[in-house]
Amino acid sequence: MFGLEGKRVVITGASGGVGMALVGRFAELGAVVVACDVPGTDFGALPVDRYHLFDITDRDAVETAARAICEDGAPDVMVSNAGWTRAETMAQLTTERFDHEMDLNFRGAADLSRALLPAMRANPSGASFVFVSSVNALAHYGNPAYAAAKAGLGAWARALAAEEGVNGIRANVVAPGSIRTAAWDHRIERDPAILERVSSFFPIGRMVAPGEVANAVAFVASPLASGITGVTIPVDGGLSSSHLPFVREIA
Ligand SMILES: NC(=O)c1ccc[n+]([C@@H]2O[C@H](COP(=O)([O-])OP(=O)(O)OC[C@H]3O[C@@H](n4cnc5c(N)ncnc54)[C@H](O)[C@@H]3O)[C@@H](O)[C@H]2O)c1
Repeated sequence: MFGLEGKRVVITGASGGVGMALVGRFAELGAVVVACDVPGTDFGALPVDRYHLFDITDRDAVETAARAICEDGAPDVMVSNAGWTRAETMAQLTTERFDHEMDLNFRGAADLSRALLPAMRANPSGASFVFVSSVNALAHYGNPAYAAAKAGLGAWARALAAEEGVNGIRANVVAPGSIRTAAWDHRIERDPAILERVSSFFPIGRMVAPGEVANAVAFVASPLASGITGVTIPVDGGLSSSHLPFVREIA
């Protein structure tokens, strides 16, 4: 139904919380899943057809991996999902943390898409990019370097969409709100009640689930979304559409 049967889908951060949901959803939809993650990753029982292990912040490693990925055929879809943040505020940023969060969340994603683009451009049935960003790119929810890097992905996707549409390329962004994955473990260790408290800020009354993000990514990556390019789709349970504490105050 999604038209993804037999399509070669490259997914970064494929063993993470959202990554596993993405791998599962694309596999269910009949795609050939090309999983990417850091060296040493074990994909276990995940339905992965091919895998490439490299650090996305290592530019030479990205070039080498892109060549290896394309040796098996041009990708139809690249899902940029690898990402990470720890510096919650400006005060917590050091030069090293700043560089790492920008390199991982923006530069690595941009480098890999640039390296895969020539092969994807030559794909006769067209191709698409989906960049997993964050609501942090839409308004300030903390994590300044990560937020700036994720906002950069929006500009990058729009540039790809505008310049490469003529070559059959679409590029979009999915911006999740908070998702309960390993990315929250360090916060929960610090404050076990944090999930319950932040849930009250979401109009749907909860954080979103990895599968809900994967559904949106699969749709926007697929031919069903053939008219959609250059946009950012929040998958955030309404978080960025409202400010519930304010609404509650005036009620
Ligand atoms: N969890 C949330 O609350 C949340 C909210 C908004 C957006 N996101 C975004 O969703 C995406 C997935 O996050 P998640 O919650 O599944 O996190 P996660 O920590 O479970 O997974 C992140 C993945 O990225 C990989 N990765 C980390 N550094 C890498 C590197 N240098 N090179 C290659 N791969 C690397 C990890 O190995 C892991 O597989 C990220 O881009 C994240 O920014 C997450």
